[in-house]
Amino acid sequence: MDETDIIPKKFMTIKEGLVEISIPEFEKISSDAPVFYNPVMEFNRDISILALQQFQKELEKPINICDLFGGSGIRAIRYKKELENVGEVSVNDISSEAIEFEKINSENNNLSLNFHQKEANILLREFRGKFDVVDVDPFGTPSYFIDSLGYSIKKNSMICVTATDTSALCGTYIEPCIRKYNSKPNKSEYCHETGIRILIGFIALRFGKYKKYIEPKLSHSSQHYMRLYLKVYKSSKSTDESLKENIGHIIHCNKCLYRTFSKGLALAINIHCPECGEDLIIAGPLWIGKIQDQKFIDGMINEIPLKNLKTSKKILKLLTTCSEEANSLITFHDIHQISKVLKISAPKLSEVLKTLKKEGFSAARTHFNPLGIKTDCDINSLKKIIYDLSIDSKAI
Ligand SMILES: C[S@@+](CC[C@H](N)C(=O)[O-])C[C@H]1O[C@@H](n2cnc3c(N)ncnc32)[C@H](O)[C@@H]1O
Repeated sequence: MDETDIIPKKFMTIKEGLVEISIPEFEKISSDAPVFYNPVMEFNRDISILALQQFQKELEKPINICDLFGGSGIRAIRYKKELENVGEVSVNDISSEAIEFEKINSENNNLSLNFHQKEANILLREFRGKFDVVDVDPFGTPSYFIDSLGYSIKKNSMICVTATDTSALCGTYIEPCIRKYNSKPNKSEYCHETGIRILIGFIALRFGKYKKYIEPKLSHSSQHYMRLYLKVYKSSKSTDESLKENIGHIIHCNKCLYRTFSKGLALAINIHCPECGEDLIIAGPLWIGKIQDQKFIDGMINEIPLKNLKTSKKILKLLTTCSEEANSLITFHDIHQISKVLKISAPKLSEVLKTLKKEGFSAARTHFNPLGIKTDCDINSLKKIIYDLSIDSKAI
């Protein structure tokens, strides 16, 4: 990158939600920009407004929030302005330039925030037990901050975590995933779901030593990032139970697309596919428990008309699918991939969903893939349904 790309030429004004901020003008969205702002993440910040409001309503008291990686301050400023019953909002950034703009921007919006210029791990350790919500929105991986977060976070709180290193979590690069998340990924058709489960599993395992356990409220993979909203509780017995119940592996056959899962840190599974005999591919350890909370997400959906969000239509679409998939099994099938294996043209997704339900199987769409189906139907019966539908549609 040319150095001129990162030298501010003038300032630009940005309107988002109910606030207006100014930042040094930039030509490229990059971590090298003097103050970081990514307009694409408005969708992410809009969803955060809904999630934190829902969390506050469930907690039934004002919430103190820490935006650990403030950048321009847009996120923290919007939390203070747009959330009902918000207590203190603290904003942190390691960069002095970012802090300068966070101060100017909150003043221009007539809001009073607490400002910190600390390395994120230091802030978390110094301010242990102080926040009801900690928002972790770093560059790339959040893995460097998870241990301090586990140490710092108090019980009955919420953590919001972004990861943009999706190529590692989804298995394009295996070694970085093992290094950062101590888990083996698998680049299958549902690699984004596997990636989200690796991220949740990593957090759950790191929090365990502090006797803290998590409950996913909303998990989504959108654009170039993954985002989690997790409630945190404390109890050694429940942490043990949660890890026993929710940590495991996903086992996948690349040849016939059979898949299953195994509970526990140790694998309790044959290494050959029971359907076709091929060597199985194993991903994990990762989270095999629920990754969506339907009641929480439905609460967020009810909140949409009450907030002034530019992206509300898109949010409604995402949240409706997340709510629908909330009670489904792990992984999903891509009907185009199955059709490719069967060497047929793919039937309509709606027809496959309808037939599965008619035959007594569960069937739901998934936000991870518009061609994906979450079902309890075994792979061979699913192939037969897809094959028959494809042949029938040709006969018409
Ligand atoms: C992705 S940006 C944050 C974007 C912001 N949350 C938003 O929604 O617009 C990451 C920010 O973290 C800051 N940062 C990077 N490493 C840090 C660290 N170790 N501790 C604290 N801040 C850090 C950077 O200066 C940058 O402003």
